[in-house]
Amino acid sequence: MRILLLSGKGGVGKTSVSAATGVRLAELGYRTLVMSVDPAHSLADSFDLERGLFDARTAEPMRVAGNLWIHEVNIQQEIKRNWQRIWGYISSLFHTSGLTEIEAEEMAIFPGMEELSSLLYVNEFHKEKRFDVIVLDCAPTGESLRFVAMPTTMKWYMEHVFPMQRGVVRAVRPIVNRLASFELPPDSYFGSVKELFSRIDGVDELLEDPKITSVRLVTNAEKMVVRETQRAFVYFSMHGLTVDQVLVNRVLPEDVEDAFFREWRRTQAKFLKEIESYFDPVPMRCVPLFRHEIIGLDRIRELAREIFQEKEDPAAVTRTERPYSFRKRDGTYEVRLHAPFATKGEVGLFKKGDELVVEVGTVRRHVGLPNSMAGLMPGRARLEEGTLVVELKEAG
Ligand SMILES: Nc1ncnc2c1ncn2[C@@H]1O[C@H](COP(=O)(O)OP(=O)(O)O)[C@@H](O)[C@H]1O
Ligand SMILES: [Mg+2]
Repeated sequence: MRILLLSGKGGVGKTSVSAATGVRLAELGYRTLVMSVDPAHSLADSFDLERGLFDARTAEPMRVAGNLWIHEVNIQQEIKRNWQRIWGYISSLFHTSGLTEIEAEEMAIFPGMEELSSLLYVNEFHKEKRFDVIVLDCAPTGESLRFVAMPTTMKWYMEHVFPMQRGVVRAVRPIVNRLASFELPPDSYFGSVKELFSRIDGVDELLEDPKITSVRLVTNAEKMVVRETQRAFVYFSMHGLTVDQVLVNRVLPEDVEDAFFREWRRTQAKFLKEIESYFDPVPMRCVPLFRHEIIGLDRIRELAREIFQEKEDPAAVTRTERPYSFRKRDGTYEVRLHAPFATKGEVGLFKKGDELVVEVGTVRRHVGLPNSMAGLMPGRARLEEGTLVVELKEAG
């Protein structure tokens, strides 16, 4: 199974590109699911489905064409299916703390539940071998990063916090329940958490396997959008995911000559160049601005023809190397760059803002640093079998 994860800032065209990717895959014969993980679902709208008639907001994916299914993850439904016991306890706790029952129920939908629910599906569908490709139409960047970080967070919680909490609660429950105004979680709560965890177990390996999961960043050639895309690239890389393509959507077509758009054209040209050099060696692809919205199957098909070449397979694995990764070893931070082209003695290193710039011969690479490393300065560099390892240290 392949997973294609589309991420990017709000409004850049993630849903449209996801739909187009799904349509093309289905035409090629793949059993394809396009799944919307964005709470502000618009997948069904993109396919121009009538709400009452085609309700994608059920637990079951809905078939929209021969090999194509779509699914919008609905948190209220998910709570009924997966979260009842966990959510029941948390909302009763909020309720005891003085919130009205409705407020408590709303509050108990904590951040991450939606993402976690979608991961449950991904894992389930993978086990069932129900689809050949899942296209994930993600929420804007921040939430999609939470999505990919979720398995690691859960694992950490299950290893470090969960056993202790469960033990402590078992020990003190008889006393606390007599004295305090709230009830401690019943053991069934812990049972549910554990069961839930076992159901997402292994999904991190799916996400980190570049032969299974590829991230495609959708962006526009404008400053603020590009900056967010760069941050997303850093964090996806940090979480061990492989970005295999940057899609620049809404590029003004050549035949738009109106003077009104002249400045826009210049801006786009500038940022296209910047995108190309920043993300290199990850390929960039331009998608033109259409004369109309992308709504309905015909227009989605038209978009697919602009994005992909004839008969091109969007599920093909084209990149298996993360361009870089970060590691902390014995208190030293390291940036590891895949650099098969590098040879000894020709590496130039310097900092530019939050970026580490690495020059190897005539190739220059910008590595965006995560917050925790942004203040550090490059120290030594060494080559390890095609990987350039750069140490980063406190300045001074
Ligand atoms: N290349 C394009 N040309 C014209 N309209 C587009 C293009 N890409 C997306 N749109 C339109 O822009 C709006 C937002 O796109 P959407 O795919 O929903 O973005 P996102 O999912 O990133 O929020 C939609 O109305 C869509 O039809
Ligand atoms: Mg969307």
